[in-house]
Amino acid sequence: MKQTVHVDLGERSYDILIGTDLLAEAGTLISPFLARKRVAVITDETVAALHLDALVSGLSAAGIEATALTLPAGEATKNWAELQHSVEWLLDQRVERDDMVIAFGGGVIGDLAGFAAAILRRGVDFIQIPTTLLAQVDSSVGGKTGINSPHGKNLVGAFYQPKLVLADVGVLGTLAPRDFLAGYGEVVKYGLLGDAAFFTWLEDNGPDLAVGDVAKRIHAVQRSCQMKADIVARDEKERGDRALLNLGHTFGHALEAATGYSSRLLHGEGVAIGCALAFQTSEALGLCSQEATSRVRQHLKTMGMKTDLSDIDGDLPDADGLIELMGQDKKVRDGKIAFILAREIGDSFVCRDVDMSVVRRILQDALRAR
Ligand code: GLY
Repeated sequence: MKQTVHVDLGERSYDILIGTDLLAEAGTLISPFLARKRVAVITDETVAALHLDALVSGLSAAGIEATALTLPAGEATKNWAELQHSVEWLLDQRVERDDMVIAFGGGVIGDLAGFAAAILRRGVDFIQIPTTLLAQVDSSVGGKTGINSPHGKNLVGAFYQPKLVLADVGVLGTLAPRDFLAGYGEVVKYGLLGDAAFFTWLEDNGPDLAVGDVAKRIHAVQRSCQMKADIVARDEKERGDRALLNLGHTFGHALEAATGYSSRLLHGEGVAIGCALAFQTSEALGLCSQEATSRVRQHLKTMGMKTDLSDIDGDLPDADGLIELMGQDKKVRDGKIAFILAREIGDSFVCRDVDMSVVRRILQDALRAR
């Protein structure tokens, strides 16, 4: 079972293959992209323990020799020191300009290894093999690569597109349910931002997806990647429409910052809560119906996902503190915070002049309900 989504970016176009057994077939799938039968894999300890052997044997079945660097798992790895470590390791491995780097892991590895490939010898080709739902539907697609700085998340990086993405939904079987559901927050986001029929499909099929229905997982990843590919093809460098992909992220990033980017709140959980808050804001501004907001919240709750600020353990700043954190978002221009609002499920738009007193009231109400 295999689906293909094409990302149409002229000479930087590439395919995303979505299916099962792609690690076993990796050698055959990757061979056409190699100048010589040798690849350098960057991965993390968790993924290496579970899946590296499968990838290496899939590659060697096609006569491809693989060398691997295994980094610590977790967001803290996306830093200057591990970037230097990765680039120096690639040079130690004598990776040349025509060679191939493989990013094998979740969003952290994809961003870090992609950025290392972007700057190594002024650009070496790379392939994404995402192993989390979040990476399969979002971070491995569209060419955003980079690391965090002490000043904030993703502040150093490059747009650098992969040559191929292999999204093997079979590997999602080893994800902890919490990590799967966090990635599902990004899947829901696609329905909410631009495809009401997909959101309805998720309402009907989300519970099956969560318990492991492979065909439905493939459909959800395929539809999410298709939507992202269409948006990225229109606006690769986020001058316009690509910002729609940030639905839920203005609130979500502030909540992640408030919880110290810790396990108190995973990125996709922040996005899910942020989507609910974005719909509440849209409703309060008279843009969308109460029914739309209720459907969003109900679906998140049915899936057992974090939906409200009361689902976050521990202290949170007050409403003004959260608004202050939103002001540090990358998308702020001239001091104006960008929100993605909705007229309806599947109909969102970017808004830079939101009445902040409405946002403050929504946050105060949500904090009071904790
Ligand atoms: N994750 C949002 C984007 O790729 O633009």
